[in-house]
Amino acid sequence: MPDILLEKECDVDGNEMSIKKSTYINVAIFGLGRIGKLHLHNLARTFRVNIKWIVDDISLHEDIRTLLQKYRLEHVTRLASLEEADTVHSDTSVEVVFVCSPSWQHESIVKKSLTTGKHVFCEKPVALTVETIESCYSLAKENNRILLCAFNRRFDPDLEVIYRKKQNGDLGKVRQLIMISRDPPIPISYIKVSGGIFHDSSIHQLDYVCYFLGERPVTVVAHGNTTSLKADDYRDCNDVDLSTIILTFPSGAIAVIESTRECLHGFDQHFEIVGSKAIAKCENTPLFASKVLLATEIIQDGCPDVFARFGKSYVAEVDHFLDVVQGKTECLVKPHECIMATELAHLCEESLRTGQVVKVPQKN
Ligand SMILES: NC(=O)c1ccc[n+]([C@@H]2O[C@H](COP(=O)([O-])OP(=O)(O)OC[C@H]3O[C@@H](n4cnc5c(N)ncnc54)[C@H](O)[C@@H]3O)[C@@H](O)[C@H]2O)c1
Repeated sequence: MPDILLEKECDVDGNEMSIKKSTYINVAIFGLGRIGKLHLHNLARTFRVNIKWIVDDISLHEDIRTLLQKYRLEHVTRLASLEEADTVHSDTSVEVVFVCSPSWQHESIVKKSLTTGKHVFCEKPVALTVETIESCYSLAKENNRILLCAFNRRFDPDLEVIYRKKQNGDLGKVRQLIMISRDPPIPISYIKVSGGIFHDSSIHQLDYVCYFLGERPVTVVAHGNTTSLKADDYRDCNDVDLSTIILTFPSGAIAVIESTRECLHGFDQHFEIVGSKAIAKCENTPLFASKVLLATEIIQDGCPDVFARFGKSYVAEVDHFLDVVQGKTECLVKPHECIMATELAHLCEESLRTGQVVKVPQKN
């Protein structure tokens, strides 16, 4: 059960008006790397949760303690090593687990959390195969727990504007979708355990175009190559550093997904829709709105990384998850959609390997 928290309410001038009782949810975060730190930052700012545990490698605990001091959580949050994870799972006051460990570790943490009665917010992908994701969702159903796959693009306010226009019919029939995602350099140690470009990077776009259209694709073709300065490293990981995927849909719509790793100029995201009534575009978001126009060139701030571009979506997805846990709304990311994204990532791998257009098995 959630614990009780005393919450202060202030008027517009910041004067304390009343103290009311509200509930907060005890959470545990597994993994405090890049994304775990971002979720910690957002969770530390909400009254809705109490961060009771952080689980990560003991060699990182000193740095984590410094972060906890920054967020004034040092007397609230306990640290557990990877070997002590069972202590956290068996803490019955923990209602929610955030899974932010490397993808290949998700399945075991998700399953342990669900069977010990916790709701789970899991970074994408929930697991690396269709079968293991299915078994995670079956377990969630058996234990009557929420399992949300954190496809944060769905919660991005800029993309949401275009999605609403499409739902209202303002774009007409959607004919073409183009999603471009270019990532700045990332350590090869991450790439090695990421699951590959389709499961780790393009999976956001595979999920988003299907969600946007509300359709299951008919065919998939994927091309890929290693052309960056770290091409040899990518080859050693049996991975590619750029890919283009083309999906066809029953409605006739065609989606093109371009994913590029190792972009030296920063994070670069574009989304375009060609509809029968309108063209809609979501351009790359610069870090600052300022531009400097010289006679010979335009100097403009680029967007450094995913966290700067999609900051609001990470806050919104956690809020949504907590609303679902508290029974206020239905989960936006459905199990079959999460499974489909990974199924499509596998079909992309098959297409890249065989050089063929692959038919997507249709379900009743
Ligand atoms: N939604 C997004 O935009 C987004 C962005 C980045 C990463 N991710 C996802 O988040 C996950 C983590 O990525 P990252 O970039 O933060 O990786 P990372 O390597 O920076 O961090 C992973 C952390 O998990 C810890 N860890 C390893 N095994 C663990 C275990 N069994 N229990 C607890 N902690 C463990 C590691 O010590 C490390 O601190 C991946 O699944 C990735 O796909 C999502």
